[in-house]
Amino acid sequence: MEAQKIKNIIISDVDKDLISNINQNKNIYLKIEAKKNEIKKICDFLEQINSSIKVKIPFKYMVKKEFKKRKTFQGFNQSILNYVKREILLNVNKKDIVVDATVGNGNDTLFLANIAHQVIGFDIQEQAINNTKEKVKKYHNVILNLESHENISKLEDDSLKLVLFNLGYLPGGNKNITTLKNSTLKALKESLKKINDKGCILVVIYPGHNEGNKEKIAILNYLAKNKCNYEIKRNTDNPVAPFLVIIKKPFQKEKNTLK
Ligand SMILES: C[S@@+](CC[C@H](N)C(=O)[O-])C[C@H]1O[C@@H](n2cnc3c(N)ncnc32)[C@H](O)[C@@H]1O
Repeated sequence: MEAQKIKNIIISDVDKDLISNINQNKNIYLKIEAKKNEIKKICDFLEQINSSIKVKIPFKYMVKKEFKKRKTFQGFNQSILNYVKREILLNVNKKDIVVDATVGNGNDTLFLANIAHQVIGFDIQEQAINNTKEKVKKYHNVILNLESHENISKLEDDSLKLVLFNLGYLPGGNKNITTLKNSTLKALKESLKKINDKGCILVVIYPGHNEGNKEKIAILNYLAKNKCNYEIKRNTDNPVAPFLVIIKKPFQKEKNTLK
């Protein structure tokens, strides 16, 4: 095994190049030097470095407390799916009914099942439904539908707390079967009608592939045109990297005018 290199990090000197350097060299042991008033900077730094890198952290208790407040951790910024988890933790509790509009391999469904009262899942592929069924076999609060997410419209419950769309294709499955612009947009519109006043919709968009780019354009156009209350979260400035759109109320008054 390669010997671990020790690297001292002065937190006020951290820049993008240093972070990318560190992330390329995982077999490294970092020692952070910081002042007591730099706890936020320590957390900002740790969020961006790989979770497997060993770090000696000063003011550990205060750093832990700040992470607890943020609902983040070391490596948080490495995947946009960590942003999704954070939004779920911030918005969903044990009384809530939520929808996973694209269950895929069931990772998101499983995460939701641990937090929500009930999870209603959709996917058009039998393989996805079976993989998810296996993942949540110990849970009694998950209902899976082998149907397109456009059928969210048929749900009796119109007080959903959260609807999650993790768009694209099934990892490990057929890459030619992906979510499609028209059905995604239709399902999104239906979801807007089904969430409650404190509800939210999370959409992870993958513009790096053709259909994903079409979905990006259609969704962002729709949200802007209808003056929806939404926010975009990115963890990189790479324009083709996946990103998260968080859509919230209020659009109650405009509900019937959405086009
Ligand atoms: C990126 S994967 C989802 C990943 C998943 N949430 C997980 O945790 O593993 C996208 C999924 O969307 C599904 N999908 C495609 N079109 C759909 C539609 N119209 N309705 C519901 N699911 C659809 C695909 O079959 C695929 O399984």
